[in-house]
Amino acid sequence: MTDAYPRKKFIAGNWKMHKTRGDVETFFQTFNRLISESGGFSQIAERYDVAFGVPATLFETCEQGVKSTGVRILAQNCHWEAQGAFTGELSVPMLKDAGVHGAIIGHSERRQYNGETNEAVGKKWQALSRGGLLPVICIGESRSEREAGKTEEVLSVQLRETLSQVSKDSLGHDFVIAYEPVWAIGTGLTATPDQAEAAHVFIRRELAELTSKACSEAVRIIYGGSMNPSNARELLGCPNIDGGLIGGASLKAEDFVRILL
Ligand code: PGA
Repeated sequence: MTDAYPRKKFIAGNWKMHKTRGDVETFFQTFNRLISESGGFSQIAERYDVAFGVPATLFETCEQGVKSTGVRILAQNCHWEAQGAFTGELSVPMLKDAGVHGAIIGHSERRQYNGETNEAVGKKWQALSRGGLLPVICIGESRSEREAGKTEEVLSVQLRETLSQVSKDSLGHDFVIAYEPVWAIGTGLTATPDQAEAAHVFIRRELAELTSKACSEAVRIIYGGSMNPSNARELLGCPNIDGGLIGGASLKAEDFVRILL
């Protein structure tokens, strides 16, 4: 890996609990029109892997919407068991059957509102890798943790405890780490490029210790937290920021496309 940007950037929308099927049809009509007016998806695909994390009710409509592009659809959660008495959950084989490419796991909203632990996130990572789906693992510190100077400690514990559930074999499968400082999510406050780059460098260094140097250099570490068309270019220009996980600015096709162009 000799050039400055050895990793293809990964840009994913995170729609959270937004949109109905009708909204999605309108979204992709606009999205596909804007992309084709700007020269077609192949130009974007040269620079970026693009995905949307969407509610399970929208998988099919989204897959229709992105059919003629290389855009991938992700779930926003999964269970680690293949099947069983887990009311309300979706397993990895079910997600595969529904045609999705991977799943966002460990998002801070799920940690906060659904009590998701690092151990649970690790089991989901393992299940996704075993099942051949892409895990997008979210980690990040809260505002009080950053103010107390504990950012690196928090990231390190999240990575260690999560990775304790992941086998060596599974690390051979592609995965993406999303660094999402909780204080920047949905707040309009963005980490500065320097703050984000420093956290990404730290995460990559930790991963080199916990996995292998080769794995840490190949893995894409993407930034999430109020990324939008005005700040994306600068953030994505940092050598260790390998993409973005974009919430609010992915809900409008115009905004999301501006980030890609
Ligand atoms: P935001 O959300 O872009 O609206 O801050 C990002 C996320 O939660 O993934």
